[in-house]
Amino acid sequence: MSSRPLPSTGRTVVRPATAAGSVVPEEAITPLIHGIAVLRRLTEADGAASPSGLERATGLARSTVDRITAALARGGYVRLDGRDAVLAPRLMELGNAYLAALRLPRVLDPLADALADDLDESVSLAVRDRDGVRFIHQATRRRAMSLSFRVGDLLPAERTAPGALFASEWTEEEWARWRERRTADPEDRGFPAVPARSRPYETGSDDSAFPAAQRPTVGDDFEQRAAEAGRVGWALDDQLIEPGLVALSMPVREAGRIACVVNVVSHTSRHDAAGLRDALLPRLRTAVAAMERALEAPDVLDVRAAPGPSPTPSPTPGPTEDPAGPAGPERSMEPGWEFVESPVRGLTVITAFGEGRGELGLAAVARATGLSRASAHSALITLEHLGYVTTHDGVFRLTPRVLGLGFPPLSRASLSEIAAPYLTELSQRLQDSVSFAVPAGDEIQYTGHVSARGAMSVHVTVGTRLPAYATAVGRAILADLPETRAAEALAGGTAGADSRADVIAPERFRAELDRVRTDGYALVEGELAQGLRCLAVPVRDRDGRTVAAVNVAMHTGRRTVEACVDDVLPELRATAARIEADLHIAGRFSRVRRT
Ligand code: PHB
Repeated sequence: MSSRPLPSTGRTVVRPATAAGSVVPEEAITPLIHGIAVLRRLTEADGAASPSGLERATGLARSTVDRITAALARGGYVRLDGRDAVLAPRLMELGNAYLAALRLPRVLDPLADALADDLDESVSLAVRDRDGVRFIHQATRRRAMSLSFRVGDLLPAERTAPGALFASEWTEEEWARWRERRTADPEDRGFPAVPARSRPYETGSDDSAFPAAQRPTVGDDFEQRAAEAGRVGWALDDQLIEPGLVALSMPVREAGRIACVVNVVSHTSRHDAAGLRDALLPRLRTAVAAMERALEAPDVLDVRAAPGPSPTPSPTPGPTEDPAGPAGPERSMEPGWEFVESPVRGLTVITAFGEGRGELGLAAVARATGLSRASAHSALITLEHLGYVTTHDGVFRLTPRVLGLGFPPLSRASLSEIAAPYLTELSQRLQDSVSFAVPAGDEIQYTGHVSARGAMSVHVTVGTRLPAYATAVGRAILADLPETRAAEALAGGTAGADSRADVIAPERFRAELDRVRTDGYALVEGELAQGLRCLAVPVRDRDGRTVAAVNVAMHTGRRTVEACVDDVLPELRATAARIEADLHIAGRFSRVRRT
């Protein structure tokens, strides 16, 4: 994610049609509508925007933008970085609620990942989102030449292979809506994830033969392609999005209906479209059959998935958190609570849904959020109006559009990007230098660093590798490994001409790692330089595996060891806990890059 303002291209902002037409229902909660507008613009701006950029893109008054971003920041959904608003990983709780409620990702993601490994091609899963397709999973093989989409990205159906399969089930009314959208948005401006539609349909065709207004464009033959896809049961994308990008798709059915579509995505430098089909269709068929069997199998709930809204993840509130704590049932008795004044209260309704909670009635939503029935109802009506919720016979469910609230940029955030704001915060609070490191074989590699201001500050270059055994971060990481692995790291690390080889005997090292494991922190004197003391704690993923460590480096004269443990350690632990809370949210359905 980059911190750049929204581009002011002057292009028209295409607003998607709302579910219930354009008339805002009387009960709708205005701050929730504004909050969602701000989150959508931040998502389109790749995760960060200045207040004036938001003002321009949303059409809201500056004072409203400021009030809404401040409320979203208190709720932990955005961070304020100087004047800019930046999407925070906690916002992924909303998309996670949709993905958990949908159930498909938990069952199908591992099978899609295995297919990508088997074929050595990118594989994605997409669901229908009105007349578009939205990605719910990406198992991407990084290749130099092609564009790759992110979880949550929305593409126009007619420019994709899965779109033809979904459209094979459309009613006449749905086709009419699609035609209307094409007329209203001839260049696909409402789909910021794809390049604008301007290329003639036939790749390499001589477009100068047509006057501009009559030039055939991508999607003109969509009705034939949809009929054909319905007949044969698969579809091809022959460079509909951009030159070189090809895809082969098959539907995964559940109870006779298309639940989602699996795509194998490649590049013409590897396969042309027909070659992709000839080479891979049989294996894709086998994979789809396995996916359909997996969906039929009796469901086992993920026991780690907490039902309903999660509590504030950090054990101690940080400066950006709402000191009053999260919305939750325990707050329902508070005076003034009934007054839904914040966009965050309305967004909490989305987190009432989840695993085994795909369809909820009003009473269940009110119970899970602690909102009164009237407030929960207003929030649901607002979300339905904006297309994030559908209702049928008094039962509400989330729509794929929920993924448009931050998921595309946030699902690409790396572990060091997640950690960065917390490292800065800790360094500012302690006035010490703070680093972040990940394991790299027998070494550790620094992937984040903030130097304290002042002459005594410690500098570490991001990217530097050091032997794991010799550093506090390395020991915090090694302590969680099986003993033999830790011993190997010591042997591997000391094999070279390292000056510490003689001072770390294997048995002393083992005893030290036992202590680190018991006490939960590593302390190394004289690391990097004479007179320097480093204190480090581990950072663990959702499965409890140590994936990184955070470190405070200080000169020995600054504090006694006791003061270090009494004063610095709790702060360091709180920082690790905040990073872990974000990592657990970000890593629930996406693989978080370690660097
Ligand atoms: C993708 O997953 O990137 C993808 C899938 C289907 C398409 C195009 C791209 O038609």
